[in-house]
This record gives sequence, C-alpha cells and structure tokens, in this order.
Amino acid sequence: RMEEDLADKLRPGWLERWQIDSSQLTLGDMIGMGAFGLVTQASLALPTGQRTVAAKMIRFNDKLCYQDFYRETAILTVIHEEKGYNPRKSNIIQLFGFNITSNPKCLILEYASEGNLLNFLRQKKNKLHYLLYFAIDITQALGHLKDLRISHRDVAARNVLITEQNIAKLGDFGLARDVYNTAQYIPVNHQGQERRLPLKWMAIESLLHLQFSCESDLWSFGVLLWEIVTGGTDPMYGNTPQPTCQQLVEILQQGIRLDMPAECPPDLYVIMTSCWSEDPTARPNPEEIRENLIREQEKLN
Ligand code: ADE
Repeated sequence: RMEEDLADKLRPGWLERWQIDSSQLTLGDMIGMGAFGLVTQASLALPTGQRTVAAKMIRFNDKLCYQDFYRETAILTVIHEEKGYNPRKSNIIQLFGFNITSNPKCLILEYASEGNLLNFLRQKKNKLHYLLYFAIDITQALGHLKDLRISHRDVAARNVLITEQNIAKLGDFGLARDVYNTAQYIPVNHQGQERRLPLKWMAIESLLHLQFSCESDLWSFGVLLWEIVTGGTDPMYGNTPQPTCQQLVEILQQGIRLDMPAECPPDLYVIMTSCWSEDPTARPNPEEIRENLIREQEKLN
C-alpha cells in the first residue's frame, strides 16, 4: 500500500518502464550491509557502454523492508519522470532502474565513489568552509522535493552520498537503509507495529504523530548541519545519549535543542535553530536556507 500523496504522482506503467534485466547487470564488490539491505558495486550494460553503478538489494523478504523498497523506487521514478528533470544536475542520487522480479529484488543507482557524508565527516580531512558545499548541495535536493511535495523522511549525514566530483547527493529514500548504522534507528511501537525510527533526526510532529512533510525534512536538515559542524558527532541532548521517543518529545517540548558546537559560527547556529522551530510553518524554506548558508560560507573564506 502506497501513501496516497505518492500514489497520485505515479505515472501508469512505471514498474515496467524502469525494469532492468538481470543479464544487463554484473555484480561486483560489496559496499555495505545491514539487517535489511545489501549494497554492491555493479556494472550495468547501457547502449552507451558499461557504467559503474550501485546495486541495492533486499536480503530478507520482510514486509516492512519491501514497503520501503517499493517507496524508494516509486519516489525516484516520480522524480526522474518529471518534465525537464536532469539527473546529472540534480543533487538526488540517479536512478537507473530496478529488477523487481529477481530474487533478491534490486535497485540500480548512481555509484557514489566517496561513500556517505557521515564517514567523510568523521575522517576530519576538510574544513567547515569546504563541508558547507555539501549542505548547500542538499538544500537544492530539498527544494526539488518540496516542489514535488515529496518528503524524504530520513535526511541525515549517513544518507547523503558523495560522488567522485565531490558533489553531495541525497540518497536512501527507503527505510531499508540501516546499511551503515543500525544504532540510530530506534524501535518504536506504533499501532501494534514495530518501526525503527531515526528519533534524534525527527521533527517534533514526526515524533508525536508520525507526521512527515517537507517541513519535517527541514528539521532533519538542521540536525545534518549540526553533524557537519561537529565532524559527524552523534547528536546528543543533555546527557541522554539514546532517548526514547517519549523522553525526546519531553526534551523538545521544554524548548531544549542540540547545543551550539564549540567550533560553530554563531550565525550558522541561528540557521540550525530556525530549522528546529516547534511550528513547522515557522521553519525556513530550502531556498532561504540555501541563501543563508552561502552567506555563511563566504564569511568563512
Ligand atoms: N549509490 C547508491 N547507494 C550507494 C552506496 N551505498 N554507496 C555508493 N554509491 C551508492
């Protein structure tokens, strides 16, 4: 079952249109693995020649990971089938297609040679000035999703991929995404179903009502900025490293937010906290954030 807002946007025949035959694909080295997913490097035969891609597979035939896989493919096709869409210029990971009939089912995506942003940050090789380019890239992706009224639901450094040209791209549109880091997805019981949710990246309304929107993505983007400034530190509220959903709601309702990191320019912290307004409509839009970030970056030069 697809969320209604998404089902509305799918064009007829999308499943067939993006189907890739197993014979076009040669699997290579494993890139990542988790409880739900497995990602390998692969080579895809295209009319223009061989292309290195990432093949994302589902290991288990679990219902929830199937839903996530389906959601990811659906969203990516909606984005890619939009009139005038240019995947080369976009900050969203490119979709080549999928094999939904194979076992395991497989999603074929652009290969990002530099891996995910969280690992990149933790290597601490780059200055903040340079890292802010990645944040600026992602505001572009969020602006695009906002135009399409699609929410990502898991904006976080672990789900941003860095290409060979050092461009940041938003990836992992499904929940089959604990490939790099399982600990951040906390089991939460919702209407008798256990879901694993990235609590510390979630907006207050998402924690309270599982409401996700472009505005809740913007909250998560604020946490992503915090990750960038702190070199990929695990977000922490006071001295509760892994709060429960209830604890986190209480913390946020008291007006407590992630602290200003020691190394953070105060104006950059103002941008972050604007993302964490309790009222979703009070949060800035991606274009405003983008302009503000460019201004901050110029100051750092
Ligand atoms: N493209 C899509 N997912 C990827 C991953 N996990 N690593 C590298 N490139 C990717």
